[in-house]
Formats: sequence, structure tokens, C-alpha cells
Amino acid sequence: MAKNGTISASVIKRLPRYYRFLGELMKQEVERISSRELSEMMNLTASQIRQDLNCFGGFGMQGYGYHVRSLHEEIGKILGVDREFGTIIIGAGNLGKAIAMHINFETRGCRLTGIFDVNPRLTGETVGPIAIRHTDEIEQFCKENKPVVAVLCIPKANTQEIADRLVKLGIRAFWNFSHYDLTIEHENIVVENVHLGDSLLTLTYRANNNIAPENSGNGQEDSN
Ligand code: NAI
Repeated sequence: MAKNGTISASVIKRLPRYYRFLGELMKQEVERISSRELSEMMNLTASQIRQDLNCFGGFGMQGYGYHVRSLHEEIGKILGVDREFGTIIIGAGNLGKAIAMHINFETRGCRLTGIFDVNPRLTGETVGPIAIRHTDEIEQFCKENKPVVAVLCIPKANTQEIADRLVKLGIRAFWNFSHYDLTIEHENIVVENVHLGDSLLTLTYRANNNIAPENSGNGQEDSN
């Protein structure tokens, strides 16, 4: 398998989609699939698929195609879904609660263990099986539970400060929803800034310019 550093960001970006489509094929009990069939499902070219998967040593066999379960498993390993990264959510407002309830962390290598909010009125309220804690408890919690992923669902004004605090507590991956482009200058820390509004703007751009959407695909599973 190639080292992540040598794989282009665009290939890494496509991997979750391969993983999702292959998972769907597994549910339909499809055992193997050719790059042509997969390309039709995913609205990619067959050569793009072969090129992408070759980055990791290639999993296909001439005349056979891809073994769906093995490919799903291998891509899962590359993505790290076989891991169990302790995960906390900071900010238990509308977004934090929605993410806690609707994102399936477990199938993505993460385990949600704590939710924190600065508002004392929310302390003790439960979101699914997890009780919201006050942010004053973060230090103790991190010491005991050693989470590595933080989901930031707080206003932008507080984001850098809370992120710096979390780095000192061992957090090394940020899924950042606050409207602040978080950057952390540390080689072992990764940040994924998410702006749903940017995605909407891409859509309006396409609508505005009559551009057919790329990769819209079909056969989408209900994948939260
Ligand atoms: P909200 O107002 O319902 O919840 C924010 C929560 O964060 C509140 O409960 C507040 O007490 C808490 N909070 C504030 N500072 C905190 C701190 N330092 N530590 C811990 N908790 C803190 O807002 P909502 O709708 O949940 O949105 C949260 C943030 O996400 C907002 O800034 C919003 O603009 C942003 N957002 C981003 C989206 C995206 O696509 N990136 C989509 C929707 C919202």
C-alpha cells in the first residue's frame, strides 16, 4: 500500500465514495464487479477507477474485476474505519446535537464518548445515550478517556482558543464545523474544515452555468 503522503488529495477524497458504493453492493450481495460496472454506478470513468485503486497497489484482477468484500475491507483499512478513535463534540447546540444523533461514528472508525458545552443549562441533558458535560470538565475527561478526535460545533469566535486547548489535551484530529478556517501548525494534527454553505455555492454555480453535476451517481444508500 502506498504511503498516504504519496497519494493525491483528490484520490483520498474519492475513497469514502468507493467505500460507500462498495458497502451498498455488499448489502445487495454482489460478490464481484468490473471497473466498467463500478464506473457506471459512480459516474466515473473505468480508467479513473483503475488509476485510483492502483495508487494502493490495485485490487483488481484481469478478467475478474474486483472482489467487492475484499476491496471494501481494504479501502476501509486505508480510511481507518477499523480504528476506534475516541471522539468528542464541542458545542451541543442545534448542529452538535444533530451530528451526535445522525452521524454514525462507529462505522467510520470513531466512537463518540463525550459532548461538551459552555452553557451550564445544558449540563446533564442527554443526547442519545450521552449526557452533555460542562466544558470545565474537558481536561479531566481527556485525561481519563484520551479522545483523539474533536468535532467543533461552536461559534467561530471561540474556535481557535478551544482548538489550542484541545491540542494540549491530546486531540489530534479536528472535524471543524464552525465558520472559521482552522489551521494548526503541527505535523501530527489534522483538520477537516466543513462548510455546507460552500457546497451549496458549488451547486448554485452549476445551476447558474447549466453545468451537469459531476459524480452525482445513483444507487445512493441512506448513509449518515
Ligand atoms: P447553536 O447556537 O445552536 O449552538 C452553539 C452551541 O455552542 C451553544 O450551545 C453554545 O452554548 C456552545 N458554545 C459556544 N461557545 C462554546 C465553547 N467555547 N465551548 C463549548 N461550547 C460552546 O448553533 P448551531 O446551529 O449548533 O451552530 C454551531 C456553529 O456551527 C455556528 O457557529 C454555526 O454558524 C456553525 N454552522 C456551521 C455549518 C457548516 O456547514 N460548517 C452549518 C451550520 C452551522
